[in-house]
Amino acid sequence: MAIEWRNNFATNDPHIDEQHQQIFRFANKLEALADQENVDPREVDSVLRFLENYIKNHFRYEEACMLKRHCPVAQRNRSEHLAFKAFLTRSMVAYHNDGYQQPWAKELHQKLENWLSNHICRIDVQLRDYPDPKA
Ligand SMILES: [Fe+2]
Repeated sequence: MAIEWRNNFATNDPHIDEQHQQIFRFANKLEALADQENVDPREVDSVLRFLENYIKNHFRYEEACMLKRHCPVAQRNRSEHLAFKAFLTRSMVAYHNDGYQQPWAKELHQKLENWLSNHICRIDVQLRDYPDPKA
């Protein structure tokens, strides 16, 4: 089931909300790939490169926002990001060692989708109460 944007994911920061939506689009691409029996390795590589780069840049941006606005969950946000990046690194090592495996792709997608919806709804949305003073 593709993950769809809902209002309860909104942080009310247009940049962060757009970045989350972009990550959702790639999570859905990963799901579509994981459902296929024969995948194009170039497509897998490009989705994975996105995941690593885009998510890391997004985390950095969001962490800076929380610090700047004195959001009380800033530290918790950062440590959950660190844990997720560590998971992502382990998952990429497995991919590089073993090559593409469909169960691996399904597991990565499931973890990504679960982590995103849980983390955004619990942590990121707390930015709503600490809007950008310059916005
Ligand atoms: Fe976050």
